[in-house]
Amino acid sequence: MKKLHAFASIISILCIAVFLISTIIVDLFCSHETIARLKSLIVLPGLIILIPAMAITGATGFKISRGRKGKIIDKKKKRMPFIALIGVLIMIPSAILLDMWASTGQFGVKFLLVQLIEIICGSFNLFLMSMSMRDGFVLTGKLKINR
Ligand code: HEM
Repeated sequence: MKKLHAFASIISILCIAVFLISTIIVDLFCSHETIARLKSLIVLPGLIILIPAMAITGATGFKISRGRKGKIIDKKKKRMPFIALIGVLIMIPSAILLDMWASTGQFGVKFLLVQLIEIICGSFNLFLMSMSMRDGFVLTGKLKINR
């Protein structure tokens, strides 16, 4: 269960980081055609990998922390609903909308606005997930930090 948690969490973080960095690079430097291709890849297979990985990370995280107490676990527990809510309410709908608009050549103001929201929320989610990863390594003793 702990191995699965570690594996799924790394896959989730990698997905968000790759989506975010490739989005920024492609948006800034590539043609509309390449942007549309990336938007489509982020939805499929991207979301098909990310959504289960996130769900497994959360579920296994809560399972392995059952019966355990502590500040670090409490913080991880508090962060997870925010990560999930931002994902479900903002990241998934924007990925789907951007893909739809890009595939029909709609790169106007609404595309830019949703793209900006996606980048800001994606960065915030990546930040929250990195904190949970750091806390995870502290819990397993792989990372020692003085607080
Ligand atoms: C996106 C969210 C999360 C990420 C990125 C994440 C990441 C990690 C990582 C990388 C580890 C270290 C694994 C290792 O060293 O083998 C870990 C351990 C752990 N995580 Fe998470 N985690 C997340 C969510 C959660 C949640 C919601 C909980 C539930 C409270 C949780 C509970 C734990 C516990 C208890 C450990 C220590 C396991 C042990 O002692 O072996 N995690 N996590």
